[in-house]
Amino acid sequence: MSNRLPTLAIVGATGAVGTVMLDILSKRENVWGEIRLIASPRSAGKVLRVRGEDVVVQALAPEVFDGVDVAMFDVPDEVSKEWAPIAAARGAVAVDNSGAFRLDPDVPLVVPEVNADQVRNRPRGIISNPNCTTLSMIVAIGALHRTYGVKELVVSSYQAASGAGQEGIDVLRDQMAKAGGDRSLGDTKGDMREAVDELGPFPAPLAYNVVPWAGSLKDDGWSSEELKVRNESRKILGLEDLRVSATCVRVPVITTHSLVVHATFDREVTADAARELLGGAEGVEVLDDPAKGEFPTPNDVVGTDPTWVGRIRQSLDDPKSLDLFLCGDNLRKGAALNTAQIAEVVAKEFTQA
Ligand SMILES: NC(=O)c1ccc[n+]([C@@H]2O[C@H](COP(=O)([O-])OP(=O)(O)OC[C@H]3O[C@@H](n4cnc5c(N)ncnc54)[C@H](OP(=O)(O)O)[C@@H]3O)[C@@H](O)[C@H]2O)c1
Repeated sequence: MSNRLPTLAIVGATGAVGTVMLDILSKRENVWGEIRLIASPRSAGKVLRVRGEDVVVQALAPEVFDGVDVAMFDVPDEVSKEWAPIAAARGAVAVDNSGAFRLDPDVPLVVPEVNADQVRNRPRGIISNPNCTTLSMIVAIGALHRTYGVKELVVSSYQAASGAGQEGIDVLRDQMAKAGGDRSLGDTKGDMREAVDELGPFPAPLAYNVVPWAGSLKDDGWSSEELKVRNESRKILGLEDLRVSATCVRVPVITTHSLVVHATFDREVTADAARELLGGAEGVEVLDDPAKGEFPTPNDVVGTDPTWVGRIRQSLDDPKSLDLFLCGDNLRKGAALNTAQIAEVVAKEFTQA
């Protein structure tokens, strides 16, 4: 039994997810001793605030992990791929937010409300955090699964620009500023392409548009993001044959992913029963009264922690299927919050017998 508070390193502290992480850690119960902030050499020497203190950002190097108990990685895939094993070799438990290890059979993929028991099953010393689109639905789907047994998910996402990092946020804001005051735009084919300066991480203008694409091209026309929803849902729920079909779409929202899910279960489930179950589920909020205009929207959900669920309906064609609308802040539960929750489960190992 040790009473020492563990040391935490946040790699990628200056990014979109890292910035939210600093805010979250400043507001949650403090379970950490020292917190080290790490980023690329570009950011070394910058001063950021966490828990009300100024902390100088250090450049990523092997020595920054000396004495670190838990290292969070909020960096691009290739950086995690190289550096999470280095952190683990130096004795830290790495909690990785990137896609580098999510499907590695020796790395657990954890959502604490669904499969917290997997945290200790980490032969490589690395724990993975699911991608933001999967995370925006899986807490609610996991709660329904425990009672009704999920068989199939048909998912359509409405994803925010910040899912593509700080660059995605900046490009959407620039495009909106450029196009916002021009009332001539939006009526003529392709006019938005001419009006915006750059597309950034998106394949088409995002301002005043809907773009049916997220990620990179994989076999048979599927996008990497769509395959992530399928493969990660299967791994988190422990259902390797779960039928999952996803279409991922980017919309001009800064932060908060929305998803429409058609879920089919082993047993019949009414909308009222689903509403009651979800209303009592950890990490889920139900907002579902269309007669009063009450349902979740990204604008109301952004900055909050839970997965919000509304528009709960039993399928008209199949009493074992539900249609749901879900919203989750992709930078909080979809990334930083889930990572913080995983790290807190690990932190208990240092302070409990
Ligand atoms: N955005 C989301 O909704 C979301 C959700 C779930 C998971 N994720 C994943 O989380 C990770 C971070 O995403 P993000 O959206 O926060 O990206 P971001 O805004 O582009 O931030 C990237 C961070 O990584 C750092 N970095 C980049 N290259 C580095 C290097 N060679 N060495 C050390 N640090 C380096 C950057 O530091 P500098 O500032 O010094 O360049 C910055 O702190 C990605 O793997 C992403 O896929 C994102």
